[in-house]
Amino acid sequence: MDYNIAIVGATGAVGREMMEILSYRKFPCKKIYALASKSSLGKEVSFGEDKVLKVEALEDFDFSKVDIALFSAGSNVSKKYAPIASKKNCVVIDNSSFFRMDQDVPLIVPEVNPHHIDDFKKKKIIANPNCSTIQMVTVLKPLHEEFKIKKVFVSTYQAVSGAGKAAMDELFNQTKGVYVNDVSTPEQFTKKISFNVIPHIDVFMENGSTKEEWKMSVETNKILDKNIQVTAHCVRVPVFIGHSEAIFIECEKEINEDEARKILRKADGVTVVDHRADEGYVTPAEVAGEDDVYVSRIRQNNFDSRNLVFWCVSDNLRKGAALNAVQIAELLISRNLVNKK
Ligand code: A2P
Repeated sequence: MDYNIAIVGATGAVGREMMEILSYRKFPCKKIYALASKSSLGKEVSFGEDKVLKVEALEDFDFSKVDIALFSAGSNVSKKYAPIASKKNCVVIDNSSFFRMDQDVPLIVPEVNPHHIDDFKKKKIIANPNCSTIQMVTVLKPLHEEFKIKKVFVSTYQAVSGAGKAAMDELFNQTKGVYVNDVSTPEQFTKKISFNVIPHIDVFMENGSTKEEWKMSVETNKILDKNIQVTAHCVRVPVFIGHSEAIFIECEKEINEDEARKILRKADGVTVVDHRADEGYVTPAEVAGEDDVYVSRIRQNNFDSRNLVFWCVSDNLRKGAALNAVQIAELLISRNLVNKK
């Protein structure tokens, strides 16, 4: 019962992580195809600890031999090639934002809305949510079930890897450059990212929000509950891996913080590290390479007992992207929804 899998964007930050995760979770792979642009043709990428795959060009690839394709090569690539793949009876799990709000494409976080998976049948495409949305809704879901969340106010502190490998290189080179007086012009970000923070992720929208902020709101509605009002403020920080979020929720019912902690401790995919001591909370540097979403600094609001505040951190390349995509593939096969070729 093994499947043929293609990774589109196999040379990128998320693509590489997808291969690592498929391998370590022992996903039933018969054959893996590593795909990227023509310029990467013949390059080698590793799959697990001991296998090396030769990169093939997406442009010339025949998806009819593949059962599931994991895409992480940006919206333009998904727009063009996901329908080509799905027409060849290959199920696409797409990490780009292109299909996320398409009514005929489910947007899935397996711990939150696995019941939406059947909706993929219309287009044979499933969208992987935005990295900041995934970690937030994973934590909101169990709290929403108990306390009924009405509003969310979230400030993000997002790692550069969310913008891809070139963005990670830019932070590295700029940081190094500071010590040798080499000031390069920003290319991947609108301003200098080393020793700085940038309150601007994705394009500006008419109402003054950025598209990243809008995504966190509408994606939460699609995944969890259409009535939750999310106000986001998204900020890029000079961290390589690991998105952090300071989250404030307003609920219908009164919240007891001990009860909230207990609920989160039992929640799938969530780890609570919450001691009021110097090292009793989690930072992004500590979660790089980890699978769970970590929650710390849980506290009730002194002004209103229906409010709760907490800190939430996760590896944006894993749960925020590659791991969630692989979990979607696992969900599909556990429900026998993929026809093997
Ligand atoms: P390549 O390395 O050949 O450019 P990241 O998100 O880290 O920037 O990675 C983007 C991934 O998407 C890379 O694997 C990149 O391949 C791939 N990619 C970008 N544009 C295309 C394209 N037009 N066709 C195929 N793969 C692409």
